[in-house]
Amino acid sequence: MDLTGRTALITGASRGIGRACALHLASLGADIAINYASSSKHADELAEEITRMGRQVVAIRADVSNPEDADLMVDETVKALGSLDILINNAGITKDTLLIRMKDEDWDRVIDVNLKGAFLVTRAAVRHMMKKRYGRIVNISSVIGISGNVGQANYAASKAGIIGFSKSIAREFASRGILVNVIAPGFIETDMTSGLNDDYKKAILAQIPLGRYGEPEDVARLAGFLVSDDNRYITGQVIHVDGGMFM
Ligand SMILES: NC(=O)c1ccc[n+]([C@@H]2O[C@H](COP(=O)([O-])OP(=O)(O)OC[C@H]3O[C@@H](n4cnc5c(N)ncnc54)[C@H](OP(=O)(O)O)[C@@H]3O)[C@@H](O)[C@H]2O)c1
Repeated sequence: MDLTGRTALITGASRGIGRACALHLASLGADIAINYASSSKHADELAEEITRMGRQVVAIRADVSNPEDADLMVDETVKALGSLDILINNAGITKDTLLIRMKDEDWDRVIDVNLKGAFLVTRAAVRHMMKKRYGRIVNISSVIGISGNVGQANYAASKAGIIGFSKSIAREFASRGILVNVIAPGFIETDMTSGLNDDYKKAILAQIPLGRYGEPEDVARLAGFLVSDDNRYITGQVIHVDGGMFM
């Protein structure tokens, strides 16, 4: 796989899965725009690492759920890197609680960041991709968007929404050379999952046929393929990276 000459914007790239995607795409030759919400130190360190790999890089602070931020971030990416070929909508949050205790703001914030954020950034990005008649978009959903989970009604709804959104735009932009796919990770070891209690984690591990939790790189490797020209004929698909947890 070779992404030399391609430019990629990865949302929520300061940590976890987004960071792994940024490093992997850079290792394949892409120039990278790193988006983050508040972790400027992590973003700057990642930018330095990617610079050392010989790639162009820009770190952009933006809240993906804010329409102005989303537009400015895409503009800044194109200004810094010259174009925008690849978008990975990865930024995401959880605000888990049982439905009966879920506050309006817990619902709204998770939907706004996880689902509306992907809509806003994609809308800004496809304007550039359509002109080039080329684009690769990967949206990060979750197996929870397919299976549902106790205490995650807001998160599951946002991640199920990502799937319907992605299939719609895969159809809408296929004739423009823009391929859109979804990755549904299972349990990946990042800050998002580090706070879960040990008994819960053990119960999950027992359900994973491959016998280990996922690593951010497991997701990044699939993302690298999906955004490359080796992916010529896959669009509108949801691919699980979950060690076989949900078949
Ligand atoms: N970990 C898992 O097991 C798992 C499983 C399935 C799906 N996923 C999905 O994979 C994606 C990445 O998860 P992760 O585990 O890597 O999470 P993480 O380690 O918590 O990192 C989240 C990233 O999203 C960024 N972010 C949060 N809110 C944002 C906003 N409003 N605007 C822009 N960026 C924002 C964070 O930026 P700051 O550093 O600045 O806060 C950070 O870079 C998420 O969509 C998540 O739902 C994760």
